[in-house]
Amino acid sequence: MPPLISVRDVSRIYRNGPKEIHALDRVSFEVNEGCFVSLVGPSGCGKSTLLKIVSGLLPASSGEVAVDGRGVRAPIENVGMVFQSPVLLKWKNVLGNIMLPVEFARLDRSPHMERARSLIRLVGLEGFEEMFPFQLSGGMQQRVSLCRALVTDPGILLMDEPFGALDAMTRDELDLELLRIWEERRKTVLFVTHNIQEAVFLSDFVVVMSARPGRVLSKLGIDLPRPRGVEIMSSSRFGEYTLQIRAMLAPASGSPALVAGSTT
Ligand SMILES: Nc1ncnc2c1ncn2[C@@H]1O[C@H](COP(=O)(O)OP(=O)(O)O)[C@@H](O)[C@H]1O
Ligand SMILES: [Mg+2]
Repeated sequence: MPPLISVRDVSRIYRNGPKEIHALDRVSFEVNEGCFVSLVGPSGCGKSTLLKIVSGLLPASSGEVAVDGRGVRAPIENVGMVFQSPVLLKWKNVLGNIMLPVEFARLDRSPHMERARSLIRLVGLEGFEEMFPFQLSGGMQQRVSLCRALVTDPGILLMDEPFGALDAMTRDELDLELLRIWEERRKTVLFVTHNIQEAVFLSDFVVVMSARPGRVLSKLGIDLPRPRGVEIMSSSRFGEYTLQIRAMLAPASGSPALVAGSTT
């Protein structure tokens, strides 16, 4: 089966007047349908840029992204996105925020309302349907944005450091929930993080990127059994994977700021 997402020699240069920033340098990788793939790399290496290019929100300067065999030239459909900040509308309640994509796309309300309610149950937000964002913790807000990304049942989830702003305990909790949802609904996930442990814990494959301009240093298959629980983090295999990635990103290769398990 051909890969669902294929990224071929993608480069991106930002031009601000005479100034050029080379954000990505000939990045290539593939994501098969149903796979969980993480992009890990230091801050500023072009991870968000790459995710925007994959989603069709931003053009590549050169190279090509294809989704489902078609070249991406405009924002793709069949995708849900989750960002680091939950970007909820403060005047809409939980249910209203989750239903936004349904309203935008003018889809049939009632089946999606049912979906929204089942997602709310799935992420443990039952009883909070009528609450407004200011009444929710950061973790709960991010759960809402996860439900919003899933409400139209997209095949692809693109996630840009979705739990990066949360405390470590809440992040672990949401990582587990995400895996549970993924195992149940089998989305194809492209997940961006600068947290090595999080990448190893979640993924089938980890694409390790260099400091800017972002290049692919390695594509590492994570051969750990599923379903995964937190106890897997204390296994020696898990430790070997994180060490291996940490070594690739060691200061010698230009990323002193990146630490395994960093929460910032
Ligand atoms: N709109 C933009 N204009 C100019 N430079 C940008 C723009 N967006 C990002 N960059 C630069 O591109 C590089 C990669 O940014 P980004 O993709 O946000 O990295 P990451 O998500 O890995 O932290 C950074 O050096 C950043 O300053
Ligand atoms: Mg980013």
